[in-house]
Amino acid sequence: MLTVENTLETGGIVAAIKNRRSYYDIEKAIPITDTALIELVDTVTELVPDSVNMKSAHVVLVLGEKHDLLWDTIFDVFGGKVKRAKIDTFKAGYGTILFFFDREKVERMSDKYPYSREKFPIWSMQANAMLQFAMWTALREKDIGASLQHYNPVIDDAVKALFDLPGHWELNAQMPFGAIGSEPEPKPKEDIRKRVIVKD
Ligand SMILES: Cc1cc2nc3c(=O)[nH]c(=O)nc-3n(C[C@H](O)[C@H](O)[C@H](O)COP(=O)(O)O)c2cc1C
Repeated sequence: MLTVENTLETGGIVAAIKNRRSYYDIEKAIPITDTALIELVDTVTELVPDSVNMKSAHVVLVLGEKHDLLWDTIFDVFGGKVKRAKIDTFKAGYGTILFFFDREKVERMSDKYPYSREKFPIWSMQANAMLQFAMWTALREKDIGASLQHYNPVIDDAVKALFDLPGHWELNAQMPFGAIGSEPEPKPKEDIRKRVIVKD
């Protein structure tokens, strides 16, 4: 019988999934070029599936001074309700990936397939989550640490104004990333049989 340990030793996607963690100690100097980074973000975005192939997800890769400005803006929008030190841990990274979905596209699909009308917003979210996870894992494979943040919806209007983005793009998540400053604590072992049941 294949144990969890044995599976992880096989490498490949399972090893990549194992290495993905929430990295809160991130720095500026990532080990790949901007060209390679953009290619990675493009490729992952292109390959992750969506319901009826509707491609509802949009990504904004924010780098350099724009990344710093983004986190300063997030701090300002909250008007002192978030800690400066916390925001600065994200600002300390190299960049941020903003994940959006196209509300108008989802509405068009709901009109086109009325028998699944209420499902399309859910499927769009699921596809967005798949994209976030794939991106998070692919970044880690390149020795880039990331975390997933949700300052939306408070920041939505300010972020769209800052980067001149369409009003019908709905912000779903922010993924600050950078060089890995330190590794997080190992995850506590869980009794996976409480969540995975095998019937044979
Ligand atoms: C849907 C989703 C939403 C999350 N939102 C946040 C968030 O807003 N802020 C944050 O710091 N971490 C957030 N996380 C990260 C989780 O807290 C983290 O993945 C979990 O504790 C497991 O730790 P790991 O990522 O190191 O494996 C989110 C994760 C998921 C999947």
